[in-house]
Amino acid sequence: IQVPVLAIDGPTASGKGTVASRVATRLGWHFLDSGSIYRLVSMQALTEGVPFDDAERLVVIARQLNVAFEGEEVRLHGEDVKEALRREEVGNGASKLAAIPAVREALLTRQKDFRQAPGLVADGRDMGTVVFPDAFLKIFLTASPEARAERRHKQLIDKGLSANLERLVLDLRERDARDMNRAVAPLKPSADAVLLDTTSMTADQAVEFVLDRLRERG
Ligand code: C5P
Repeated sequence: IQVPVLAIDGPTASGKGTVASRVATRLGWHFLDSGSIYRLVSMQALTEGVPFDDAERLVVIARQLNVAFEGEEVRLHGEDVKEALRREEVGNGASKLAAIPAVREALLTRQKDFRQAPGLVADGRDMGTVVFPDAFLKIFLTASPEARAERRHKQLIDKGLSANLERLVLDLRERDARDMNRAVAPLKPSADAVLLDTTSMTADQAVEFVLDRLRERG
């Protein structure tokens, strides 16, 4: 029997990361934050000065990425980069290089390897459509751009970083357009996905919604 996968896809800052990791904890399942893998490639490209449209060199980085997820830590070539991965510059680069088919291809096995007993909660853009099309439950989680910008704004302020709300809304819209309009694995709900709009929901309510859908499927 195949190890069960719960796929949670959606746009940036929709809250899917928080929801997916809490659901994984509640179930005692493994957790894949696939965006962090694209972010790691972006970070390494920034370090090596590789442009985000240099497919050939980005594929080499993707293949050779020496990454380890240890509990809460993300280690890139031995160094904990969890905080640095969240930088807007790193996320924007990730969204650019994620449009390159060969880069996505190079990261496919790396993501599938997370499928281990007793189960996997996978968070991303194409978990239900491309990486785990046989997931037994697929959730597509959204929220309005304004709600998402406000959440991102609060996160940044809480961390003591500066942030401009209008700028964040513009960045989100730009990132959405890039993720939705790319030719390969565009951000879109799988035909069999359950839609969940969290604009006026708390993270806990969203977690309960997902767990309820899981119970329904037995
Ligand atoms: O989710 P997160 O913001 O960390 O992802 C960073 C970028 O990586 C996204 O904007 C998206 O372009 C890309 N990505 C992707 N496919 C995934 C996860 C992330 O294309 N499964």
